[in-house]
Amino acid sequence: MGYVVEPQTHTQPMLRVAGISKDFVSGGQVLSVLNDVDFEAGRGEFVSIIGPSGCGKSTLLNIIAGLDDPSQGSVEIDGSGLHRLGRVAYMHQKDLLLPWRTVLDNAILGLEVQGVPRSRARERALALTERFGLKGFEHAYPFSLSGGMRQRVAFLRTILSERDVILLDEPFGALDALTRGHMQEWLLDLWSSFGKTIVLVTHDVDEAVFVSDRIYVFTARPGRVKTVVPVTLPRPRGYEMVTQAPFIALKAELLASLREESVRAQDAPWQ
Ligand SMILES: Nc1ncnc2c1ncn2[C@@H]1O[C@H](COP(=O)(O)OP(=O)(O)OP(=O)(O)O)[C@@H](O)[C@H]1O
Ligand SMILES: [Mg+2]
Repeated sequence: MGYVVEPQTHTQPMLRVAGISKDFVSGGQVLSVLNDVDFEAGRGEFVSIIGPSGCGKSTLLNIIAGLDDPSQGSVEIDGSGLHRLGRVAYMHQKDLLLPWRTVLDNAILGLEVQGVPRSRARERALALTERFGLKGFEHAYPFSLSGGMRQRVAFLRTILSERDVILLDEPFGALDALTRGHMQEWLLDLWSSFGKTIVLVTHDVDEAVFVSDRIYVFTARPGRVKTVVPVTLPRPRGYEMVTQAPFIALKAELLASLREESVRAQDAPWQ
């Protein structure tokens, strides 16, 4: 009794991207955006992607989510390459709330699209509003919320879809440094209790080091994996770490790697 047989699949990565390339054709010109990208995220792992603007990070997330197809290569989620659409939760770079819907009704949007009846969907959202710092604001409209609260509504919508893999594209981009710091700690707390696989795209090197198990650094366009940096800082992590030597050493390594890429992009403006 109480004995659980581990599934055979537990050693395979939750997400595997192999040899992905993507070319866009517009106005007769071919734009090579991603070039032979290999990427993996383990079950329950927190992985970040950093890289120069325009190197194809959002394009990669769109491909993983099944919203776009690669020109070459494959994506497997939990061992299956079929039917990616709807298998991951995806918070887009500009995840806007609908101004005419309340907090609760914005949060349940994804569930409604999945066909969950509104009353059940609302119950599920209500059970989490406290955890998301939205208690008492369930019936408020987006215009009356702070930036951090709006972000948490978008997160709630993403989490409610109950997928094992969550893709987050610059989720804290619009927030001030202090709110951003609180949101990062909050996200880590949430991640450690929900045990999901998270792929985070960010421009903020501190953020990547603070939250991640591993960081993929991408080259300038066409994006390739330049290096993968493991973050071995102990968990749980607190903000005091960001001024300590191990954190700063990792940050310096990542910044140097990114800087090389931005110099390369400036040297080749025709790319
Ligand atoms: N549907 C599309 N058609 C043509 N070009 C596209 C399309 N989508 C993206 N691109 C181009 O692909 C390149 C990569 O875009 P993408 O949004 O993936 O970059 P990114 O790394 O997310 O950048 P940022 O950090 O600024 O968000 C850009 O040059 C962009 O103009
Ligand atoms: Mg982007």
